[in-house]
Amino acid sequence: EASAEERRFTELIEADSRVEPRDWMPAAYRKTLIRQMSQHAHSEIIGMQPESNWITRAPSLKRKAILMAKVQDEAGHGLYLYSATQTLGITRDEMMDQLIAGKARYSSIFNYPTPTWADMGAIGWLVDGAAICNQVPLCRASYAPYGRAMVRICKEESFHQRQGFEILLELMHGTDAQKRMAQDAVDRWYWPSLMMFGPPDDDSPNSAQSMAWKIKRFSNDELRQRFVSMLVPQAEVLGVTLPDPDLRWNEERGEYDLGEIDWTEFHEVLAGRGPCNALRLQRRRDAHEEGRWVREAAAAYAKRVAERETE
Ligand code: 3HC
Repeated sequence: EASAEERRFTELIEADSRVEPRDWMPAAYRKTLIRQMSQHAHSEIIGMQPESNWITRAPSLKRKAILMAKVQDEAGHGLYLYSATQTLGITRDEMMDQLIAGKARYSSIFNYPTPTWADMGAIGWLVDGAAICNQVPLCRASYAPYGRAMVRICKEESFHQRQGFEILLELMHGTDAQKRMAQDAVDRWYWPSLMMFGPPDDDSPNSAQSMAWKIKRFSNDELRQRFVSMLVPQAEVLGVTLPDPDLRWNEERGEYDLGEIDWTEFHEVLAGRGPCNALRLQRRRDAHEEGRWVREAAAAYAKRVAERETE
């Protein structure tokens, strides 16, 4: 016999309503939200690294200013999402420590290197483009603080995607060397951006429950398909080729058929054996150490203020 609280929670979910932090929720609902939201926040924080590599090397002041704004946005998205996750009863320090200890997941996509400037275009166009496909439905996640955080983040994400598209468009109207650099970046980022959506639906242990609780609104494969359908016409405008020789329009499906994704690569990256996993974690640990004095100073100051108030 379900308790009154369980019935109320089920009614909220069935009515497509929102669960607020103070509402009763099943422990497993809380747990899967902490899992997904903390990983989402970690992804934003680690996601600053591939791009920060090019802030000091941007080809113009305009590009430098745009890239700095984008990386700053991602820091803000991370802090926003950490705050939303804290409403579920985990502390910021616990989440930080999990990431620093290498115990926390973050998106596989940020474990790839950024050897050329064109990577800034491919990341904006493909990675932020995929993020938008994944994050727009999350604006309607049943957990209200997550949905609200997504609304603000999605607005900034569309600027990220557009500036990436523009970088590639400029390169594709440049010299042959610039065209080759843009195509090379698309070749390297295309398949990893499809992996951002998660494993195939028949290998996605969290999807069924996450969809029943209306956290996940569409399946991994559905969003992946939507993303590729969005990409094809944009690739034509850019004049780049998507590196999938099996990609073709399927008349009766009314969708594009995709080639096989290399899930071995996906599982290798998730196991920490991607091209840059160790580098990304080391950089995060170093930044945490470098920032220790700031945290200690702020805590000492807050303690002094609190003491003065009780004097
Ligand atoms: N990278 C790392 N881990 C991944 C992954 C990926 N690309 N895709 C799936 N996984 C993990 C899942 O976390 C899960 O492991 P866990 O149980 O230990 O958490 C396992 O693989 C099985 O996957 P499931 O499909 O069962 O897991 P989910 O239902 O959580 O679906 C997801 C995965 C679609 C990524 C979902 O978690 C999600 O929508 N997360 C929020 C969005 C997000 O994190 N996006 C990452 C991009 S970061 C970003 O957008 C920054 C922007 O500025 C570019």
